[in-house]
Amino acid sequence: MTSKEIQGISFFHLAKKYKTPLYIYDTSIIKQRFEQLQKALSPIPHKIKYACKALSNIHILRLLNNWGCGLDCVSLNEIAIGLKSGFSSDNIIFTPNSVSFSEIQQAYEQNITLNIDSITALEKFANYYPEGKCSLRFNPDITAGGNSSIQTGHKFSKFGIAKEQINNVVEIIQKSNIKITGLHIHTGSGISNPEVFIQMLDTLCQLSKKFPHLSFLDIGGGFKVAYKKDDKFIDIELLADKIVPEMKKISHEYGRPLELWCEPGKYLVSECGYLLATVNQVKHNGERTFAGINSGKNHLLRPMLYNAHHEIINISNPDAEKKTYDVVGYICEEDTFARQRNIEKIREGDLLCICNAGAYGYSMSSNYNSRCRPAEVMVYQGKDFLIRQRESLDDLLRNQDFDPFASEL
Ligand code: LLP
Repeated sequence: MTSKEIQGISFFHLAKKYKTPLYIYDTSIIKQRFEQLQKALSPIPHKIKYACKALSNIHILRLLNNWGCGLDCVSLNEIAIGLKSGFSSDNIIFTPNSVSFSEIQQAYEQNITLNIDSITALEKFANYYPEGKCSLRFNPDITAGGNSSIQTGHKFSKFGIAKEQINNVVEIIQKSNIKITGLHIHTGSGISNPEVFIQMLDTLCQLSKKFPHLSFLDIGGGFKVAYKKDDKFIDIELLADKIVPEMKKISHEYGRPLELWCEPGKYLVSECGYLLATVNQVKHNGERTFAGINSGKNHLLRPMLYNAHHEIINISNPDAEKKTYDVVGYICEEDTFARQRNIEKIREGDLLCICNAGAYGYSMSSNYNSRCRPAEVMVYQGKDFLIRQRESLDDLLRNQDFDPFASEL
C-alpha cells in the first residue's frame, strides 16, 4: 500500500529531519485523485467541493484552490480558513447542522452558498432575507456508509430536512421571495456501492420538480477508499458512468442543465497521508506482544472510535518475517491502533508507518493526556515542506497561562 519513500524522499529522512510522531502528506496523490474525478465528471457541468473537515491544513487547501477545487465547510472557522487559503466566497458551500441562526447569517453575509438543513432555519432565513438564495439539505431515508456513526441519510438521523416535509418547505418559500438554487443530500461516509448515488439522484430529481430556480444538485461526499489490500472502494469511472447519463436525464426533464456538485473528503486525502511513529517499547504480556509507539488515539482516533483498519508497516525492518502484534499508543486507557496484526518483526526504536492517515487524522486529533499534536509535512513536487509546527507545552498553556486569583490574593 505504500513505498518507503514519497516522491524520492525517504520516510527515514523525513523522520530524522522533523522527528516523530509526524503526519506526512503526498500532494501528488491528492492531485491525481482530484484530476481523476474532474476527468470522470467532465461530460457534465460539475463542481468538486472538497470537504475540508477531513484535513484542513491551509497549505493543502491552498493547493486544492490552485488546482480549481471548491470547498465544503461545516463551521465558520472552516470558512475563515478556506478564505485565508485563497478560496473565493462564491466557491464555498456551508452545510452546518444544529448551529445558531447567527452562524448561518454570518456565513450568508460573507456571500457563502448556504445549505440549510432544517425547517426552522429556513423560516428564519426567509424572514431575514425575503429575497435571499440558498440550497436545501434533504434527508432521503437511505441507509448507507461505513458504520453507524458515519451514516447520515437514514430516517433516524439528525441531518437534513425529511423529504416528507417537502410541502412545509414549499409553503415557506411561497410566502416569501426566496429562491432555492440547489438541493443537497449526503448519506454517509465510506460508500462503495455506486447505486446509492443513483438512488440519491432519483430523490433529488423528484424534489427538483418543486423548485424552479435550481442551478445545482449536490450528492455530498462519502466515496469509499481502500484501507487495506482487497478492501472495497468506489470505482470513480464506474460511478461517473452511472451518474453522467442520470444527470443528463434529470437536466433534460428539468428543462435546463443542472450542475452536479460533490463533496469528497476521504477520496481526495485519505491515501495521501501517513502517520510516522517510533516504537518506544516491545512488551510480551501474557498471550500478547504489544508494540508501544510514541503516538496515541489523541493523534489518530479512527481505530479506537470506529474500529477502523489502518495498514501499519515497519519501515525499519521491511523484509523481516511477520509476527503478530497489538500496536498500542501511549494514552492512559485503552489505546490500540491494531489488534493481533501481522507486521514485519518490530524492535524498539523502529519506525512504523500508519497508512490512510490523511483524512480525519490530524483533524480529529486532541491534546488528551496533555500530549502535543505532531507536526505536519507535505511533499510537493519532490520537496518536503513543514506545513504545521509540532505543538509545544506553550501551546497547551496559551489560553490558561494567567492567574485568575491575582486580584483576590
Ligand atoms: N459532505 C458532508 C455534508 C459531510 O458531512 C461529509 C462528511 C462529507 C461531505 C465528506 O465525506 P467523505 O467523503 O470524507 O466520506 N470522521 C469519520 C468521517 C465523518 C464524515 C463526516 N461527514 C471517519 O473518520 O470515518
